[in-house]
Amino acid sequence: MDRLVIKGGNPLKGEVTISGAKNAALPIMFATLLLSKKTILHNVPDLKDISTAKKLLEILGCGIKYYPEKKICVVEPPEFPELEAPYNLVRTMRASILCLGPLLAKRKSARVALPGGCAIGSRPVDLHLKALKKMGAEIEVVEGYIEARCDRLKGAHITFDFPTVGGTENILMAATLAKGETILENAAREPEIVDLANFLNKCGAKIKGHGTAVISIKGVEALSGTTYSVISDRIEAGTYMVAAAITRGEVYLKNVPICAMDAVFEKLREMGVFIEVLDNDKVKVIGDDSIQCVDIITQPYPGFPTDMQAQFMALMCTANGTGIIKETIFENRFMQAVELMRLGADIKIAGDTAIVRGGRKLKGAPVMASDLRASAALVLAGLAAQGTTIVRRIYHLDRGYEYMEKKLSALGAHILREKDD
Ligand code: EPZ
Repeated sequence: MDRLVIKGGNPLKGEVTISGAKNAALPIMFATLLLSKKTILHNVPDLKDISTAKKLLEILGCGIKYYPEKKICVVEPPEFPELEAPYNLVRTMRASILCLGPLLAKRKSARVALPGGCAIGSRPVDLHLKALKKMGAEIEVVEGYIEARCDRLKGAHITFDFPTVGGTENILMAATLAKGETILENAAREPEIVDLANFLNKCGAKIKGHGTAVISIKGVEALSGTTYSVISDRIEAGTYMVAAAITRGEVYLKNVPICAMDAVFEKLREMGVFIEVLDNDKVKVIGDDSIQCVDIITQPYPGFPTDMQAQFMALMCTANGTGIIKETIFENRFMQAVELMRLGADIKIAGDTAIVRGGRKLKGAPVMASDLRASAALVLAGLAAQGTTIVRRIYHLDRGYEYMEKKLSALGAHILREKDD
């Protein structure tokens, strides 16, 4: 296992380039199972989750090559994909459930390990399964595996109880090869879903309404292949904007998906962080000691993203005043709070609400990462804290942030990766 050793107190200065979006690349990679021709994906970030998805696609029969230096992934989809996504892989990455829809659509059968929960919540997939049953799939859970089979999936009118991101992606993919039209209501509207739909349409799918709460998919007989560039990562961009603010620095971000970040820009500006959009994908961010705490409620897109909640909690520990954070998406997403308190933060948790009393001078200490965004929050707090912060179990971080310590060092942070015995 590795750890990060951070000597805090340096205001970050300079330019950072945002990588491709993990949460767009993953569904798009699984969507290649639907295709009949080779596909070339650009701007695919070099992350642990991407290599896990690559391993799973190989097990399912894809010929797949990833070139980390060029961020290119080349996929040769199999005519008849294998049917089983094994537990030993699925348990390391819950997004593996996204192979279920494509396998059912392409092979009319699938055996996918039921993803367990994770640190942030129980993460059920009941909405995925209910929707696939409406499309004609017979599904049962046997010894921890989802066993699904169907004749050809048929179009259905589906209304989700909750705008589930993964559920929307699974049904979107499954419906591309179904017989007839599928209407998906209360669909998730995240930019990563729009990217997946744009990719599938480039391969010959007939998807409309993506990015709104009502998506229609007219089934086709086959999908070809294409060349496609994945969108940039709005959560990575938000994380580096917070890094600039929490260290009171001045940072230029490149490749920022600005149109996907309204809620994050809004909240940072409400705190008093200076943000200037320099052209269509470049942003200048300056932080100073005048920043104020704000209230945050996490919501499905286009509301404030739950994936930015932990990072804002860290920022508010060092801002003036008091802020209230309400986490409405996941039932256990305040794991960073107790670790931030080890650095001197003043946070009270009451159910789905956290009260953050700011104005604190954080002091470095050893802390433990628990999940992807909580680990990012601990790194951010370490950058601001006086003294040395050691963040352990940073394999969580490596799942979703490309070369984070290198990007931060280039901005003037004093941060080293070490082996953790
Ligand atoms: C996606 O997870 C993202 N992961 C998450 O990012 C993100 O936090 C989440 O969407 C919300 O935006 C990827 O895209 C790979 P959901 P997903 O289905 O699809 C409940 C990160 O940090 N629910 O929208 O799992 C569920 O329990 C990760 O990059 C059901 O109850 O999110 C949760 O409370 C973390 N039944 C809520 O909905 C279901 O069938 C949101 O889940 C499905 C979901």
